[in-house]
Amino acid sequence: MSITQPISLPATMRAAVLVAPGQFEVRQVPVPLPGPNDVLVKVTRCGLCGTDMHIYHGSYSADRLPLIPGHEFSGHIAAIGGAVTGLALGQGVTADINVGCGACFYCRKNEIMNCPAMVQIGIHVDGGLAEYVRVPASHIVPVADTTPIELAALTEPVSCIVRAVKRSRLRLGESVLILGAGPIGNLHLQVARQAGAAPIIVSDPNPERAAWARASGADYVVSDPAQLAGVVARATQGRGADLVIESVGLTSLYEQAFDLVRPGGRVLAFGLSAPDAQAHYLPFKVVLKELGLQGSVAGMGDDMHEAMTLIAHERLALDAFVATVYPLERIAEAMDAFISDKRINKIQIAIGDVLKETA
Ligand SMILES: NC(=O)c1ccc[n+]([C@@H]2O[C@H](COP(=O)([O-])OP(=O)(O)OC[C@H]3O[C@@H](n4cnc5c(N)ncnc54)[C@H](O)[C@@H]3O)[C@@H](O)[C@H]2O)c1
Ligand SMILES: [Zn+2]
Ligand SMILES: [Zn+2]
Repeated sequence: MSITQPISLPATMRAAVLVAPGQFEVRQVPVPLPGPNDVLVKVTRCGLCGTDMHIYHGSYSADRLPLIPGHEFSGHIAAIGGAVTGLALGQGVTADINVGCGACFYCRKNEIMNCPAMVQIGIHVDGGLAEYVRVPASHIVPVADTTPIELAALTEPVSCIVRAVKRSRLRLGESVLILGAGPIGNLHLQVARQAGAAPIIVSDPNPERAAWARASGADYVVSDPAQLAGVVARATQGRGADLVIESVGLTSLYEQAFDLVRPGGRVLAFGLSAPDAQAHYLPFKVVLKELGLQGSVAGMGDDMHEAMTLIAHERLALDAFVATVYPLERIAEAMDAFISDKRINKIQIAIGDVLKETA
């Protein structure tokens, strides 16, 4: 098998291995070998998100341990499998982490999460909390030279929102109510603005998150739940929102969502709740008001390329997402800070040469 690689590729690398729930070990492990259709990415940045938190706690992917997590990474191509064309060593890249069989009904429809053979890099197989990560060449997303590589590591989370806009059929001039203004709710807000939504109402009881939403361009921000119904009514001429997005992961919010959506409107199920948690809503009302309930999960295929394009053309304010950076060696500390300090909106782990620590 032929591999194009710089002569300097080492045999081992530093990696953050989650050996058991709650237990990271930063150790030397073999550098993964790219197969003929793979590339090896030298990682510069890797973001942490709620999914990593679930993996860390053992509530998700526990059967995959030991695992190198990390699915929000960017870096440069360090080696290229023999059958790969169109990619170059040193090229800046990120990756679509959702790898399906490529041939089934769902893969053909870009609904890869439903592919029976689907695996996610950094969730089911080793990911980006390491010096190198192996990616199928078909899943590489090239990054323009002019785009800072740390911003490219945000392509995966942004792609989830891009997909949600499509699944929820959000259109120009539609009103949106976003429940939850964490990093993901903030991206919903920013992308909804790009999609031409108006007005955009954001609800979050956390005053810091509410202030962030205000600064990010929300038309109305509500931190007192008792005020929400009145604000939505005033902002939508009494109708309710065209689209309500649940971006918390609290099933109790579905009742509120179905109360605040306008007749004929849609509710987007986006936050992740416990797998067996049930929500209460009235099918009678769904029928008579012609309401819609739509789920959306992850971002893949063209969602990734569109997210990359929005980032490359500076359509989103992303400074807050790259402001807190830890080196790989301090991964356990970074994870603890991410779990316990809700003032931190996003943590990135710096792995390559750019070691601008901020925390
Ligand atoms: N579907 C997908 O593709 C996808 C992708 C990424 C994340 N997610 C999920 O989206 C959700 C949000 O992610 P995040 O990183 O922003 O989470 P987060 O926990 O950082 O933020 C959640 C926010 O909700 C707020 N909140 C709590 N109770 C509320 C209430 N009653 N009303 C309004 N707001 C309330 C919190 O104050 C917090 O600011 C999570 O459940 C995450 O797992 C889904
Ligand atoms: Zn994520
Ligand atoms: Zn498939």
